[in-house]
Amino acid sequence: MSPFDRIIDRTGTESMKWVYPRRVLGVEDALPLWVADMDFEAPPPVVEALRRRVEHGVFGYPLTPPSFYEAAIGWMKRRHGWTVEKDWIVLTPGIVPALNSIVRAFTRPGDPVIVQPPVYHPFYYAIENNGRRVVRNPLRFDGRRFEMDLDDLRTRIDAPGRLLILCSPHNPAGRVWTREELEALGRVAVERDLLVVSDEIHHDLVYGGRRHRVFAALSPELAQQTVTCVAPSKTFNVAGLSTAAVVAANADLRKRFEDETERSGFDLGNALGIVAFEAAYAHGDPWLDELLPYLEGNVDVLERFLAERLPAVKLVRPEGTYLALLDCRGLGIAPEALSDFFLERAGVYFSDGRVFGEEAAGFVRINFGCPRSVLLEALERVERAVKARG
Ligand SMILES: Cc1ncc(COP(=O)(O)O)c(C=O)c1O
Repeated sequence: MSPFDRIIDRTGTESMKWVYPRRVLGVEDALPLWVADMDFEAPPPVVEALRRRVEHGVFGYPLTPPSFYEAAIGWMKRRHGWTVEKDWIVLTPGIVPALNSIVRAFTRPGDPVIVQPPVYHPFYYAIENNGRRVVRNPLRFDGRRFEMDLDDLRTRIDAPGRLLILCSPHNPAGRVWTREELEALGRVAVERDLLVVSDEIHHDLVYGGRRHRVFAALSPELAQQTVTCVAPSKTFNVAGLSTAAVVAANADLRKRFEDETERSGFDLGNALGIVAFEAAYAHGDPWLDELLPYLEGNVDVLERFLAERLPAVKLVRPEGTYLALLDCRGLGIAPEALSDFFLERAGVYFSDGRVFGEEAAGFVRINFGCPRSVLLEALERVERAVKARG
């Protein structure tokens, strides 16, 4: 038995993932396979470091120690072949807060910001809530796989439109962009002087022998016009500790980002989040090396189950992340009724594809970062509900 097979009861921890469909939406035994949070314990070295820190009992304002930066630098080098300098790293309470600051720091009200839908919906909020304009460069879908449309992108870059939020690996399309794809995007970025915010929060979660390529590391030019967002929060399931990092080699971009975060009043971190971030990046390799085949095994289970028992639902097989789109258009259910059908009739809560963009209407996003038995139970519930519908 894998340690990831263990079912951990999250009752009483106010887990958003579990409470929202059960208490807020009122479906008491719903299985939550939606928000990007895994039902696994953090790695033992992370829990141990937190325990030691909690036992100290004093929780005043923290600084980030040199060992915090060393852990981040070591991880980026070991896992991604990316050489990062200490000064490039800026602490942030999360990638979403960072994206909001980035939008304010690098654009003016009314300016366009480009995204590649269907995409992680807080990208839209970061743009719109700050009075900027969303410009869509939709991914192309051939029925199996999503790809970037760079010809379309070229037409979207107008005068002040110099900011693109890249999602790499892509949530929810599940793509781990290849070096060739990123280099092609990089050529457009350099040609057109496009500033790229590369959200690489899912960078460690890649399958099938693939390799995540750090966009900023592709060339010295791109290093100067890219701001990269990273965090151990998805990889090690510590999102609730609100600690992430923005990495920028370009001192001017970094300064503008730091000035903007200062205007938000954020300049100190979370005492426990800092400890968890460091422990994960310093000691998390063996745990992650066990997690990845487990998650990939869940993808295989999901793919086989759908092919054999629910062929009307098609998996867009993810190359990375623990999230995947299910193409449900074959079920004959209206897109606006889809997630209610799964919640109310099957007792399974997925993310509605429409939140990621109209391109994913008729799709739901499944989170398979859970024990395999829970995934199977959810799939069996869905199968029963679909068959009962006739
Ligand atoms: C692409 C992407 N960016 C950012 C986040 C959230 O980041 P944070 O919790 O650090 O704000 C997520 C969470 O699912 C995500 O998928």
